[in-house]
Amino acid sequence: MANSSTLYTLALLAANYILQVYGTNCPVVECWFVQEKPGHGFPAAMSQDKSLMYVRISPDSTRAESQQKPPVGIDPSRIYHVTDPSGSLCSPSLHSPEGSVKKPQCEINPFLPHPSLVNWAAPLTRSGLSPVYLEADWFSASLKGLDEQLVLSSVIRAAKTTNELNVILAVYSTSALVRSRLGVPVVLNCWFWKESSSPLSELGFAVEWRYQFRGEGRLVVAYDAKNDRLAETSEKGAELDISGLHQTGNASLLLEDAQVRHTGTYICTIYLPYLLAQVTIDLEIVEPPSLSISPSPLPISFPGQTITVQCEASGFSPLSLEFRWEFVGADGAVQPLVNGGMSGHRQAVDGTFSQSSWLTLDLGKLDLGRGGEVTCVAVHPGGTRRTSTTLSIIGVSGPTIEDSMAMVAVALGLYGLIKLCSWMFTRAGSIDSDSEEKKEK
Ligand SMILES: *[C@@H]1O[C@H](CO)[C@@H](O)[C@H](O)[C@H]1NC(C)=O
Repeated sequence: MANSSTLYTLALLAANYILQVYGTNCPVVECWFVQEKPGHGFPAAMSQDKSLMYVRISPDSTRAESQQKPPVGIDPSRIYHVTDPSGSLCSPSLHSPEGSVKKPQCEINPFLPHPSLVNWAAPLTRSGLSPVYLEADWFSASLKGLDEQLVLSSVIRAAKTTNELNVILAVYSTSALVRSRLGVPVVLNCWFWKESSSPLSELGFAVEWRYQFRGEGRLVVAYDAKNDRLAETSEKGAELDISGLHQTGNASLLLEDAQVRHTGTYICTIYLPYLLAQVTIDLEIVEPPSLSISPSPLPISFPGQTITVQCEASGFSPLSLEFRWEFVGADGAVQPLVNGGMSGHRQAVDGTFSQSSWLTLDLGKLDLGRGGEVTCVAVHPGGTRRTSTTLSIIGVSGPTIEDSMAMVAVALGLYGLIKLCSWMFTRAGSIDSDSEEKKEK
């Protein structure tokens, strides 16, 4: 009995140890430490040093690095021990497998806490917080995962002149590139976590979504959580889940009806008093074209004739389209046809594009037999679409076996008919003459 309970305790201890070493510690994050070189004028020269972050989720867990050799070629002052209770720095996509060439991107910069001036974040610092907590070294870290989908930004605090860092604010998205069809709801994913034991945490937070495209920008939504107030914006159909924001840190943006005009870059910013962190998300609206082909069906054609077919693609976005033409013969064989030309594009009110292609078929030069299907193929990032029209060619020289057999059958039939008629005619003639003979008697 005593033995088994000792074993049980040992097993528990071992499990706990494994959890501490492997479960609550994350592999090392390699980073570039980028800062302005001191004493340089404008433009500021930047220095870039290799850096390492040993990350653990809880300050109680043992340090993973104690089992490892100190790395070579890295300045010891750029080796950090980061406690990240949010666990966001532990995401597998931030750690390349051993020996892998592909590396996640990571950059650390010095960060200067400052009151925010934007309307929805200004109330956070209005009360005038004792700045003692802010007297520390602050850093911001920006990371991009291996799959290019995870983006993460953290604000990290170090007690003066130590390399023990604590994540205070983390903002991340697990889909940095979103592709959506037209006219459907689309969610731009953004989450945040704040250190609840930080004195900044009780003072509230603010959320802001901005939109940027080709140098233009606008506010999409902004929310002041301290006063539970949404900012006035001109944007319609863009929503935050306010209760989710408070309960789980879900700052995702819901666009109710994806339109071409939504294409662009979205910046999700979370403000804490004096701090901010942001991630950017790209949204692409990808809608494949609808095709129409004309004339359909094609007028019955003769060898030697030249016919023109037009194919119109409409309602697509982005403007990236390639047309191909194919001919499918009666025997099912596919033959590419030379593209006749392509029109310029037009843009509809909803932002989608239309464009046409035409094909000229010279039946004097092309041998298309007795016809088949002429197919227009439109290749678009949203998918390939195709549509067909029927081509019938008559009077083709060199009849097929079926033709010959049909002709023989017709000829035989005709012959039979003529024979029958002439027989009936002679029969009728002889009956008439018989009766005339009788009358004469
Ligand atoms: C997060 O918020 C978005 C936008 O309101 C919502 O569509 C989504 O379902 C939420 N996600 C979770 C896991 O609650």
